[in-house]
Amino acid sequence: MKNDWRQKLHLEPFRGWLNDPNGLSFFNGMYHVYFQYCPDSPYGKGDKCWGHFQSPDLLHWEFTGTVLFPDTEADKSGAYSGCGLVKDDELYLFYTGNVKHPGDYDYITDGRDANQILVTTKDGHNMSRKNILLGNHDYPEYCSRHVRDPKVWEEDGKYKMVLGARKLDDTGCALIYTTKDSDPAGEWFFEKEIFKPNFGYMWECPDIFTLNGKKYLSISPQGLEHTEFEHQNVYSSGRFDESMTDFTEWDYGFDFYAPQTFESPDGRRLLIGWMGIGDIPYTNPTAEKGWQHCLTMPRELGIDEYGRLVQKPFKELNSLRKEKMGFSSGDVLKTDLPFELFALIDSDFDIRFGFLEMRLKNGVFTLEFTDDKVGCGRTKRNVKLNGCVDIRIIADTSSMEIYLNGGQRVMSTRFYPQSTEVDIMVNGLDGLVYTLDGMEVKTRE
Ligand code: FRU
Repeated sequence: MKNDWRQKLHLEPFRGWLNDPNGLSFFNGMYHVYFQYCPDSPYGKGDKCWGHFQSPDLLHWEFTGTVLFPDTEADKSGAYSGCGLVKDDELYLFYTGNVKHPGDYDYITDGRDANQILVTTKDGHNMSRKNILLGNHDYPEYCSRHVRDPKVWEEDGKYKMVLGARKLDDTGCALIYTTKDSDPAGEWFFEKEIFKPNFGYMWECPDIFTLNGKKYLSISPQGLEHTEFEHQNVYSSGRFDESMTDFTEWDYGFDFYAPQTFESPDGRRLLIGWMGIGDIPYTNPTAEKGWQHCLTMPRELGIDEYGRLVQKPFKELNSLRKEKMGFSSGDVLKTDLPFELFALIDSDFDIRFGFLEMRLKNGVFTLEFTDDKVGCGRTKRNVKLNGCVDIRIIADTSSMEIYLNGGQRVMSTRFYPQSTEVDIMVNGLDGLVYTLDGMEVKTRE
């Protein structure tokens, strides 16, 4: 069948541009997924708004439209990224109001304001009046004008906020603010800076969360050095543990940035990222059809038996499985997108899709496009694995998420084949393929 590249398992706008996930939360019996949205431009032109999807089960979604507009003096150049916090019977949404003053400015050290703003909602889409919590005069004097992307959580009866920032000496950092009492709409005070020397010029979209009693700091740093195995993309994203020594990337593929985590009602820590990055040297031809970019599927975060942080596709996905096919080394399979492939690994192997190859060789897993019309400028990405026991691939109509070694490493990429039919050639491994049903995504617009 002709592939129209409309995703079946990943949230994407019906028209326009999407970037970061925002305000992720479960509130009033619904999951809420907001996102950075330019409804009128598939190229992201114009001031950013927030779009909104909601779902009772992560599988049946409704797009309710644009719900937050840059319509005040405090956010007039964009309602930038932020988070959700459920309190009493309201959803609190914290975000950055971006203000660019007209003039001859560099917009780094001058000409820009960053206001941290709170709105509340009782239904997820009708917003209260905007309440400015922090402005430029509240940030340390060593900060540039880039201070944004609040993530808020409750701790010991107070609220904490982490912001991403660029300092005047062109290093990135995270700023922690705290409330005096238990009112997230009240006053906020600067508490401390989190810094790591030689770690980029700007940290975007920070997130602090706890997993198995341990704290992690997730950031999307800009300006890291690119090497063969690390930080291969223009901008990176990953997490530090509490010691701030090791930084592990969330995803080693071509298309991943600005993830955010939240807790599901059954206590899972779920992560959703933008399956895209700014300023990339490759393209997404859906833009010519009127829309660009999608979010990753929700990923469940956990700690494996070796104490490593792992990511797994959300468990609800299993209910979309249709036909099951077994395969063994040397087989050529024919299947339709979307599908899932799972295999246990006990040797080097390769899997070829005609336009894309992946292989494990000498402890390095490589993902490589062999047809540039499908990869649209994407070339090759590598990840080092200290042993790999399994691989799970979730292939949508125009994207793939590859989970390696129980989710210890993940790789995501967009791709644009003309057909939904794919031939898969496998060598060196036996496993299973399931064809998958799609999610339901309705729109109110
Ligand atoms: C990350 C980012 C954020 C900002 C938003 C603007 O992709 O640059 O730092 O809030 O996108 O759309």
